[in-house]
Amino acid sequence: MIKLISRLYIVYTALCLHLLAQELATIKLNPPDTQRGLPFMQTLAVKASATEWSEQELSLQDLSDLLWAANGLNRPEENKTTASSAMNSHDVDMISDADRFRAGSPELRYEWGALDAGIISQNISLFCAATGLKTRPRASMDKEKITELLKLNESQHVFLEHPVGYAK
Ligand SMILES: Cc1cc2nc3c(=O)[nH]c(=O)nc-3n(C[C@H](O)[C@H](O)[C@H](O)COP(=O)(O)O)c2cc1C
Repeated sequence: MIKLISRLYIVYTALCLHLLAQELATIKLNPPDTQRGLPFMQTLAVKASATEWSEQELSLQDLSDLLWAANGLNRPEENKTTASSAMNSHDVDMISDADRFRAGSPELRYEWGALDAGIISQNISLFCAATGLKTRPRASMDKEKITELLKLNESQHVFLEHPVGYAK
């Protein structure tokens, strides 16, 4: 179960879904469909950042698969995920906390958070390329507003947003 907050944001310690102008909702995700999508090399061959999206909402399966591809548990017995994370800290997920890093100076934790967010960003881009969805990583955004909207604390930082949608 995840809380949908709005649009896909990658935050240091927070990856949140932001459905614009919609109320908070709790959504039970489907299991991932691990059989779908283009083969890996073909995925790389078509990977591109989009500039436009349709207004159509994502289906539950697409949303479920997107989130699993982004940073889902792929080895639950070891609590490990589709995205590698510094010190296996899982600092980036739906909402998490920088304090999950067991060690490191604040500067190092910030750096690890940015790197972990970048890895998840690439998973999102590759999932979209493989499945025909459209996305674009964006660092330019109103971070202050997002921080306020998501009620982030001082140890949580916004790095990227990832609008995801169907082709227009
Ligand atoms: C860290 C990062 C930040 C980015 N920020 C923005 C952004 O703020 N606005 C935007 O339109 N594109 C942004 N992009 C997308 C790049 O412009 C895009 O990846 C680049 O032009 C290469 O195109 P491609 O992704 O299709 O290969 C960002 C990409 C990365 C990796």
